[in-house]
Amino acid sequence: MKVAIIGATGLVGNTFLKILEERNLEITELYLFASKRSAGRKVNFKNIEYTVEELTENSFDRGIDIALFSAGGDTSKKFAPIAAKKGCLVIDNSSAWRMDGTVPLVVPEVNSAAAFNNHNIIANPNCSTIQCMLPLKALANKYGLKRIIFNTYQAVSGSGQKGILDLTNGLKGEAPENYPHPIVNNCLPHIDIFLDNGYTKEEMKMVNETRKILELPNLPITATCVRVPVINSHSVSITAELENDFSLDEVRNIFSNYPGMILVDSPENDKYPLATDATGHDEILVGRVRRDFSAPKSINFWVVGDNIRKGAATNAVQIAELFKNIIR
Ligand code: A2P
Repeated sequence: MKVAIIGATGLVGNTFLKILEERNLEITELYLFASKRSAGRKVNFKNIEYTVEELTENSFDRGIDIALFSAGGDTSKKFAPIAAKKGCLVIDNSSAWRMDGTVPLVVPEVNSAAAFNNHNIIANPNCSTIQCMLPLKALANKYGLKRIIFNTYQAVSGSGQKGILDLTNGLKGEAPENYPHPIVNNCLPHIDIFLDNGYTKEEMKMVNETRKILELPNLPITATCVRVPVINSHSVSITAELENDFSLDEVRNIFSNYPGMILVDSPENDKYPLATDATGHDEILVGRVRRDFSAPKSINFWVVGDNIRKGAATNAVQIAELFKNIIR
């Protein structure tokens, strides 16, 4: 399979390469693209040196089978249709195509079948949404969902290199360049832009993408998304109201057996999901599973995932892997 990485010099782009090295997608040719600034840069992949090229309208003229895009929404908006028209399957990490009715939005453990109904563009969901889909699908399958409340605690790596720099430079006393306020000693209830309804765009991504992935277009959902001074891995508190009653033992059992998810739920031993434990891994950690005593048939739990791996690069590579017997 001929693979291209768009945004190869970025945080997610680098992680695409790392994950492609770890897994066994057969790559016959690899092309790396970024902006003009990075053209000529050398990058090592499986002990072979590759040269980063400037992304142009002609970049897809060489029979590329799959392009993993993570170079921002504007680049995706412009170049994904060009690639798709030339027969390349685009797996796009930006938000540009996620809510397009003709574009599947896929978390392979949850809705892999949707991926095959594509017009050469498949969208990778928002990072905090991806990690929540696994436990929510597990609950939806068994009990049905009535309402969801998300509260996120999102790492600065979700903003790319510039987010990490605001935290590391901020710890040295420097002023922020990316966030509107210092991220050091702060929690910023502001991710992406504010919308007319008072929510942020990130919060509405969680609402709309969850409905699309779970195929529950009218599910009541609310979200508050917060950036916290953590380098990597997002944590999310979820409250889910279910259609049918449940037992905690049964829910723990369902979570334990769901693919891609590990139950870490032994509070008596101070064991619960932590960002530092999720980082570097592809599995989603779930714990603090408890009955919400303020509402009937409601459950609270805590979900942590590496936002650069499963929240972005791993999920995209898993989507590509769905096609490994179709595209060679
Ligand atoms: P470059 O390094 O040349 O700027 P991050 O999210 O970590 O900031 O990474 C963004 C990625 O997207 C980088 O690889 C960056 O390349 C790439 N990128 C940004 N703008 C463009 C563009 N107009 N065309 C191609 N790649 C781009």
